[in-house]
Order: sequence, then C-alpha cells, then structure tokens
Amino acid sequence: MEKIKFVIFGGTGDLTKRKLLPALYNLETENLLPKDFEVIAVGRRNLNSDLYKEKAIIAIQEYSRKELDLDIWEKFQKKINYLKMNFLKEDDYHHLGKLLQDSKQVIFYFAVAPEYFETITVNLEKKVLKELKISPQVVIEKPFGYDLTSAIFLNNLLVKTFGERNIYRIDHYLGKEMLQNIMFIRFANSIFEPIWNHHYIEQIQIISSETLGIENRGNYYEQAGALRDMLQSHLLQLLSLIAMEKPDNLDTETIRNEKVKVLENLKPLSDDEIRDYLVCGQYGGSDEIPAYREEANVGIDSNTETFVALRTFIDNERWQNVPFYILTGKRLPVKKTEIIIQFKKLSSPYHEEEIKNNLLVFKIQPEEGIYFEFNSKKPGTPREIVPVKMDFCQNCEIGINSPEAYERLLFDVIRGDATLFTRWDEVEHSWRFVDRIIASRSKKKDFPNYLAFSWGPVEAKEMIEKDKKNWLTLEEKYENL
Ligand code: BG6
Repeated sequence: MEKIKFVIFGGTGDLTKRKLLPALYNLETENLLPKDFEVIAVGRRNLNSDLYKEKAIIAIQEYSRKELDLDIWEKFQKKINYLKMNFLKEDDYHHLGKLLQDSKQVIFYFAVAPEYFETITVNLEKKVLKELKISPQVVIEKPFGYDLTSAIFLNNLLVKTFGERNIYRIDHYLGKEMLQNIMFIRFANSIFEPIWNHHYIEQIQIISSETLGIENRGNYYEQAGALRDMLQSHLLQLLSLIAMEKPDNLDTETIRNEKVKVLENLKPLSDDEIRDYLVCGQYGGSDEIPAYREEANVGIDSNTETFVALRTFIDNERWQNVPFYILTGKRLPVKKTEIIIQFKKLSSPYHEEEIKNNLLVFKIQPEEGIYFEFNSKKPGTPREIVPVKMDFCQNCEIGINSPEAYERLLFDVIRGDATLFTRWDEVEHSWRFVDRIIASRSKKKDFPNYLAFSWGPVEAKEMIEKDKKNWLTLEEKYENL
C-alpha cells in the first residue's frame, strides 16, 4: 500500500522526544493520524525500531498531554520505524531514497540544529528526490537563519529544492489555541473591530516571560539571544496578528498578506530609540541556580541577552502614534504570555482620576482566555467608580484540554494547510527589523544585570516610565544586580 511517510531528521533529539512524538501520539488518540501513516525516525545512534519504540513510549508517558493508553499505543507503535543513518554522509541517503520510493506523500521534518539544514537539503536533492514520484513537503524549525543574509541563503536553497508551496516554516506559537483565537475575537465580534485603532487604543503590550533559564541549550542560545530566539519569530508574529487589517477572506495567502503588511510597516528603531527604548539584560545566579554565564557551553564573559524590552510603532493609518511595548526574558517571575490592550480614557462627566483605562487582555498561556476590565459604579455609593473585571479562562472549563501547538501544526502539514506557518516575506521583514537592532545597539554591556526571578533590569521600568506608562504585568519587581 502506498503510504504517507513522515521522516524526522533528529529522531533521537530533544524536540522529537518532548514535542513531535507526543503530538503524533495525541493525534492518534483523536483518530487524526491517517491509517497509512508511517514515521521514519532518522538518527545516528545505534538503535533498531524495537529499541527506538522503547524510548518513544517513555517520552510519550513523560510529555504527552493525555495519559498513555496502551490500546492506542499498540496502534501507534506499528507506525514507527527507526533508520540509523548519518545525515551528514551523502552515501547514507541511498537507503532512505529506496524506503520512500512508493510513497504517496513524503514529509521531511528538520528537527536538527540549524547548521545542518543545508547539508540535509543538498543530500536529499542528490540522493533522494529523484526516487520520489511526488514533491515532498519540508518542515523547518526555527531559527530560520541567523540574520537576514543567512536566511536569504537558506531560503533560496530550500525554494530551489522543494518549491515555496512545500516549505513549512514552523513557529510553534502560531499553533497555540489563543493565537488562533485572536483573529476570531477581533473579526467575529462587532464590539471590538470599530475601536481597534489609534482613536481608542492608548498602547499595546506584548509580554512573554519564562521562569526557566536556557536549559541545556548553551550552544544554540549563545548564537541567538532573546532578540533572535523570541522577538524575530514568536513576538513579531503576535504583533502582526493583533495589528493586522481585516482579511477579505480566510484563504492562507490572504491572511498572510495582511500579516506581512504589518511587518513591512514596522518602523525601524532609530539610533536614538535604540539608546532610549531598547533594554537588554542577562540573568545573574543565586546559591540555587547558575547565572547565564555559568550555564554549560556559555562563555564566562558572554554578552548574549536573555531579556529584551523595547518600544516600537507601526507606520500606518490605524496605528498612528500607538506605542507597542514588547518584553520577554528568561528567569522572570512567572511563565506567562499575554497581549494587553489598554484603551484611552474618553471625556466623561465623572472624576477623571477615578476612571481607569479599560483593559483587554489576551491570555495566551499557560492560562488561555480573555480578561476585560472596565469602570462601574461602586455599589452603595452615590457616584464612586470602581474597575470591575471579567475573566474568561478557556482551559479552566471542564472538558477543555487544548491541543498542544505541535498537534495542530503537524495535523496541518499532513493535510497540506500552510496557513499557520510563516511565509518567506514574513521571515524577511522580521529579520530586517531585528538585524537593525542588533547592528546598532550598544556593544558595551554590564551583564549580568538582573536578578533571577525579577522582571528584569530596572532600566526596563524606567524606559516605559519615560512615556508615563507602566508595564501592565500586575506584579512589580525589577531588580538590577
Ligand atoms: C522556543 C525558544 O522557540 O520557544 C525557547 O527557542 C523558548 O527559548 C520557547 O523557551 C518558548 O516556548 P513556549 O511555548 O514554552 O512559550
């Protein structure tokens, strides 16, 4: 029988263990994995399929959102095979080519360090693609390049080899339930869209904080830093969804066209703004946890940033003079991603000081939902005003166990829907924005400069206070080392 073959380069790696195998298993539990589906996990380790499955079941037990069900595992494990090969060696691809010969759909998943993307593509081109009857799809993990120049190089190679329509540039944030919900909430409700502009919105904050450090990813993170690791991909994607114009329809390309216009109109930070409205930080350590510079594979005098806060603007009619503040960092007090929209105060017959700005918060993770704060009469008083809150938590509802981002994204790749993947021009404009910051920011660093589990260096607080605003993060704790 002709099959759908899902080839994972990096089959024994961390991403496969934590995300890909659990996601595929969960798709199986929902009956969303086609019957004729086969995983070929490629790795250099000396394993066979049986030994690989022993590791796979442990990974699923540890990382799957649903508990392991042995009947479903039985069905799923029949779809897994292991192929020992060295993907750096051209000759090793011969066997893979034979295995894929009669497939009706082939998906190559590059779950390896980015420096291998080129070698794998070139070897596939030389040894495997001519064996196939169909055009394969390729899924590329971030980071897509290291800067604009390297991204262009990689993109040209991939387009030449696979064709743009077969390339799936993954940004797992796009698979998160609440990110998908942003468009629904904006465009399916008549109460939001008319006020979604500079007449009514005072500021927008995008905050993505993590409590974890860099884990064991020193080699990668030293090359990346928070600007490349979070801003270039996830956070600019959040920004484009929150700021895009209404698409005429829900076609993949129409939505992507609107998102790309936002990125195209992002105002590059001027030198003065880079000095005044960009704060980079690096976490220090304590008795219990290592400082960034003490992590494995990190230089003892590393100047890589683990924290970024900045202000930017979008140069179009809708967003005239509305500041977008972005803050992200590792070793902050909470794990949380939120987009906070603060509305302007309008003229009103009540005391100006009593009135609070309305707030609308998209809670992306870990809690998924919407929070809305508005002014109301304090009961029992003649005219006192109090802010009241409506808090909708989607994943607190009984019976809702949102799929992991990777489940949704893998399902989409299998059925050939690229809407939730980034198109080349989105990547290109994001790099332009980030490259400019990296090239112009001050090289002089006083790292480490914030205490672990604080909200970052106090300069981040001072930066936003210059605009007579505050970070709307609820907790207040900024601490320089
Ligand atoms: C990854 C980054 O893309 O996203 C990591 O490389 C980061 O450094 C992670 O920790 C955050 O993802 P999530 O889904 O945990 O917010």
